[in-house]
Amino acid sequence: MAILEIKNVGKRFGGLQALSDVNLSVAENTVHAIIGPNGAGKSTLLNCLVGKLIPDTGSVTFQGQSLLGRKPYQINQMGVSRVFQTPEIFAELTVFENVMIPCFAARDGSFQLNALAAVRGQGDIKDTAEAILEDVKLLDKRHMTASSMSRGDKRRLEMAMCLVQEPKLLLLDEPTAGMARADTNNTIDLLKEIKEKRDITMAIIEHDMHVVFSMAERITVLAQGTPLVEDTPENIKGHPKVREAYLGEAQV
Ligand SMILES: Nc1ncnc2c1ncn2[C@@H]1O[C@H](COP(=O)(O)OP(=O)(O)OP(=O)(O)O)[C@@H](O)[C@H]1O
Ligand SMILES: [Mg+2]
Repeated sequence: MAILEIKNVGKRFGGLQALSDVNLSVAENTVHAIIGPNGAGKSTLLNCLVGKLIPDTGSVTFQGQSLLGRKPYQINQMGVSRVFQTPEIFAELTVFENVMIPCFAARDGSFQLNALAAVRGQGDIKDTAEAILEDVKLLDKRHMTASSMSRGDKRRLEMAMCLVQEPKLLLLDEPTAGMARADTNNTIDLLKEIKEKRDITMAIIEHDMHVVFSMAERITVLAQGTPLVEDTPENIKGHPKVREAYLGEAQV
């Protein structure tokens, strides 16, 4: 069953048609990778899913409910979280404080208790935050300031900030960008563990084919704002159109 349905989505920036006729569905409990060259429209598509951009055409539904016209925090509350291409963490706060922040919805610049906090009370949220920090292997570092952490730790912190919202769908925009191979492998293992433990569906944008082919059950190749092909990893690897448009001589 599809948890996310994108139908005929188009988005134009001035003279540039960044997305056109994007049709894509993500099946529940799978890892679905979206790959494609720089500028293909991958981040733009993600922005259209989380309320940062409004598509000019088409529809986006999550568990049968439209995501269009909703504010980012409302989409979070429905169960969709996103790890950004550039980590959005609060550099001067501690790791623990950072993870507590998404428990409160930022609205009009002031923090208000969101529905999650109101329902559960702050004590429970603290427990949830600690459990998630343990899952992402940051519990020992919870008193460190975010700015003093390594790049890999920052990415894991950002993941924790998403997981504390208990998403059903996690969108990841290049989660291993700039990481050394050992950190990349740790991230792959971590995401697999999280997926199993928390039953989270993942849509992942990634340039590193090692990550894609280690994790994805389904792959969509985006080229010039439109899906070129969608298939299993095995079929994508041998697909001549994909090799020509994107993979080139990459070792996959
Ligand atoms: N806010 C914007 N205003 C104008 N053009 C934009 C805007 N955001 C993206 N674009 C353009 O839309 C196209 C798609 O950009 P996008 O960031 O979605 O690509 P991408 O596939 O994520 O690339 P990368 O792999 O480099 O992250 C690019 O040509 C980009 O310059
Ligand atoms: Mg991008």
